[in-house]
Amino acid sequence: MSETANRDDLMNLARRALSHCVNQSTDLTDSIMTMPIEAYTDEERYRAERNRIFSSLPIAAALSIEIPEPGNYKTMTILEKPLLIVRGDDGKARVFLNVCRHRGAMICENEEGSVSRFSCPYHSWVYDLQGNLVSRYAAKTFGDLDHSPLGLTQLGCEEAAGIIWVTLGSNEDFDISRWLGGMESKLASLDLGNWHLFQKRELVGPGWKVTMDGYLEIYHHNTVHGRTVGQHTIGNLLVLDTHGPHQRLTLGRKSLKTLQHEPEKNWEPLEHIRLVHSCFPNLSISGILGDHCLVSMIFPGKTADTTRTLQIILAAEEPVTKEALDATTNFSEMVLQAVQDEDYRLGMLIQSGIKSGANHEFLYGKNEPAVQNYHKWIDHFMRQETDLDWATSNPDKTV
Ligand code: FES
Ligand SMILES: [Fe+2]
Repeated sequence: MSETANRDDLMNLARRALSHCVNQSTDLTDSIMTMPIEAYTDEERYRAERNRIFSSLPIAAALSIEIPEPGNYKTMTILEKPLLIVRGDDGKARVFLNVCRHRGAMICENEEGSVSRFSCPYHSWVYDLQGNLVSRYAAKTFGDLDHSPLGLTQLGCEEAAGIIWVTLGSNEDFDISRWLGGMESKLASLDLGNWHLFQKRELVGPGWKVTMDGYLEIYHHNTVHGRTVGQHTIGNLLVLDTHGPHQRLTLGRKSLKTLQHEPEKNWEPLEHIRLVHSCFPNLSISGILGDHCLVSMIFPGKTADTTRTLQIILAAEEPVTKEALDATTNFSEMVLQAVQDEDYRLGMLIQSGIKSGANHEFLYGKNEPAVQNYHKWIDHFMRQETDLDWATSNPDKTV
């Protein structure tokens, strides 16, 4: 997105948010939506959703800046699959199963690092950065083998807007632009490739849907986050843009009202609104405070009641002064508190009562349009064969 288009876009969002602020309103759907509680609890349904949604569709697995240079890698486990994410000599990011083709040893046990080759710790078979088997210890005694079919097992992987996407159930290439549709340019405007990676950590959270619901509404911000991120934002004010299953949420900052009396030419929209970019099914990016950004990737656990979240803290520039370091550390601590001690603590309590029989269904209010949209798209993908093509027929359809 060009700078002018980006400013026009942000100005437009600020106008929409200001109108809600003045009228004490928010974006609404036409009606309240209900969801049977089994959508949150039924393990069979959960396994089917993991397969259809998290194994078949592209999911966010890493940021490009986690592996900026050739030879940089990181390992992780998603849906019980051990992954090795590597940048090749050609600059391309690839995702492999972190499993040796000889007899299955884990190729790399480190969480991250930089190498020119991967050597299996069991019998020293060696793979290059493109996953090719390039040599075998004592190959003569082992016996002749054609190396070409014995490269590391590769999964579908694409890089776009500073994010590395993977399809866990397929080694086919996929068209990430088609999948992201109009969301791609919005993600690109965040310029994620040029931020400084300050900190990474993993959080254990409640079930997939309980967790994601919390990332998709502002209705709870004043009550749950009054002492953290809610201090800065107006509760229950949401401006929503959907690109099929992907969504951009715009929140109003407490200062938004002051724009009423400012000529538009003086507006600095990002001083008064906050954006959350949410890519189906597992990514949320929130620029909560000026020069800092929180990236969250949510991965389903073995059962319906648990997830793991990779939380990455970014700073616009590497903090070198004490002041900058303090500001970034404060941001990091605040979002940790907001997510772990507020959102996820509450989510864990929801999990503890979810099978009590108190609710036969959950309700999504008219003022929770992003939650409604998310669940409609879950249903859509469970009904359809894998559908990366939703964008080609109608880029902004919202079902
Ligand atoms: S299992 Fe890797 S070299 Fe034998
Ligand atoms: Fe929250």
